[in-house]
Amino acid sequence: MSNAEVSRWQVPLADLRVDEELLAAVTKTVGSGWWSAGPRVAEFEVQFAAYCGAGHAVAVSSGTAALHLAVLALGCGPGDEVVLPSLNFVAAANAVAVTGATPVFCDVVGGTDLNLSPDDLEAAIGPATKALLVLHYGGNPCQMDALRAIADRHRLPVIEDAAHAPGATWRGVKCGTIGRIGCFSFFSNKNLPTGEGGLVVTDDQELAKRIRLLRSHGMTSLTWDRHRGHAHTYDVLEPGFNYRLDEIRAAIGIVELRRLDAENAARRRLAARYRERLEGVEGIAVAFPASDADVVSSQHLEVVLLPDGSSRRDVQAALANEGIQTSVHYPPIHTFTHYAALPQRRLPQTDAVAPRILTLPMFGHMTDEQLDFVTDRLVAAI
Ligand SMILES: Cc1ncc(COP(=O)(O)O)c(C=O)c1O
Repeated sequence: MSNAEVSRWQVPLADLRVDEELLAAVTKTVGSGWWSAGPRVAEFEVQFAAYCGAGHAVAVSSGTAALHLAVLALGCGPGDEVVLPSLNFVAAANAVAVTGATPVFCDVVGGTDLNLSPDDLEAAIGPATKALLVLHYGGNPCQMDALRAIADRHRLPVIEDAAHAPGATWRGVKCGTIGRIGCFSFFSNKNLPTGEGGLVVTDDQELAKRIRLLRSHGMTSLTWDRHRGHAHTYDVLEPGFNYRLDEIRAAIGIVELRRLDAENAARRRLAARYRERLEGVEGIAVAFPASDADVVSSQHLEVVLLPDGSSRRDVQAALANEGIQTSVHYPPIHTFTHYAALPQRRLPQTDAVAPRILTLPMFGHMTDEQLDFVTDRLVAAI
């Protein structure tokens, strides 16, 4: 089914595949007469937990809600610090800041490695550090052995922002299950899209219980339970939110979860083709190494580094003229007005790579012709 009505791009950055199976799942759910959190959300949680090998999964309304609940469940608040990379989506820093805790930014490894630097993460740890919040950038797993050693040494919990990394593995273990808590996003452009949506995984039963409670106002029963007559009243154990996922999105999630491994494999094949066509082109570097025996990437993003001193804006404009959508992941968080006002650590690698990174189109059903068109036009543009 064509997405032409929503996209003016010949090659969009990301693209949803809509088919009969997906439409049937939505139609059936709408026809069920129950749209808020209920049995499909519960089924999605069970299936996602099994897929990841996690003890518990709690579906929520967005990746941002997942991060907020993770930070809260670990008890972060005023006076605490959470260390995270600045080269990240701002949701992670916002999730920390809204609890009253302070985000402290660490650097990336640099060169073509856009994941956080374990050495700099450790250097950022201080007496007020309460947690470490790591990102698997673009679906490329971090150096989790180094991060775990640091976390153990300092007795700090690790939250994984696995928004880019559903299905990615580090030494055979699914991203999101390596630290204490893993957070996923199901925003439309993600490898597992539901429109809006998110999910928290953890093996810690007490944390899962608290996250479940905070997801729904701190209440001891869900509307669904009361609808079925399983609960007539409820108590409130602590103030919480409405961060629930709904049945319609859960139905989409169940279908998309079945497709995730194939989606990720298709993305990896496309990434290999990007690399084949761009490696060796003067001035262009493809992010991350071609292979690493420890990791399987979910290849959420296809990121290249442009030549030092080149105008990214001009390259993006030239590609846009050809109908090719590009983006930047990310403007570093420490450069945004609100965060720039905080005391800053030096982040030389982040500052060096940030002006050069460019995200190219990547989605599982992208054709080789589309990809070749992107690489040809990119080479011409620089
Ligand atoms: C790395 C990262 N973390 C968190 C989020 C927030 O997720 P959401 O948009 O579902 O709130 C996103 C994405 O959108 C993201 O890319």
